[in-house]
Amino acid sequence: MQNIQFIRTDLPSISDDLAKHGWSVREGYFSPDLCAALLDDMRAQEAAGKLTSAGIGRDRAQKIESGIRNDRTLWLTGRADAPRRFAALMEELRLALNRDLFLGLFEYEAHYALYPPGGFYKKHLDSFRGARNRVVSTVAYLTPGWREEDGGHLVLYHPENDALPVQKIVPRAGTLAVFLSEEIPHEVLPPLRERVSIAGWFRCNASVAGRVDPAR
Ligand code: OGA
Ligand code: MN
Repeated sequence: MQNIQFIRTDLPSISDDLAKHGWSVREGYFSPDLCAALLDDMRAQEAAGKLTSAGIGRDRAQKIESGIRNDRTLWLTGRADAPRRFAALMEELRLALNRDLFLGLFEYEAHYALYPPGGFYKKHLDSFRGARNRVVSTVAYLTPGWREEDGGHLVLYHPENDALPVQKIVPRAGTLAVFLSEEIPHEVLPPLRERVSIAGWFRCNASVAGRVDPAR
């Protein structure tokens, strides 16, 4: 008898999940090797004093709001090997989302985020008032050996009811969370250990009347 191998075509893609729920979670999206290389890159820059307290909002509206979040961040520049490999994977995802969902995603920006033990980021949306150009948010987790009891979950809430949690994500190295920036309220619960992620955003081009959309 012929040995027929079935290829599962029924597994939902990130695009399917986004269209249906507004969010998607993939464990093991990034290899342990890439996570370790990104973590090393972040640590080297941290040692050089490059991480800064995170702000809320863009440009002049930006201010440090330690009551809302208390992580420290650094934009990825993509010059080193690990951020370059990460950017290549995100570029593949951008093309897939544009192909499947016609989102017109134009570019990607991302930063390392380091949460101290007890750190947090209270419930928020990732879109900014007056600059509705962050369309899809991504969060990649880098800390190896993360256990459920280490806390630091990312909690996603229902798009129409921000009191209704729909998913609690363990920030385990290799996991990728993807969600609609303007639709999905979310928060970071306090971790017991230092927690490292890369938060990123696919943006559409919001340039108007000859004014080039500022990158951030
Ligand atoms: C953010 C954010 C989530 C996380 O930086 O906007 O929501 O799990 N981060 O790090
Ligand atoms: Mn966010």
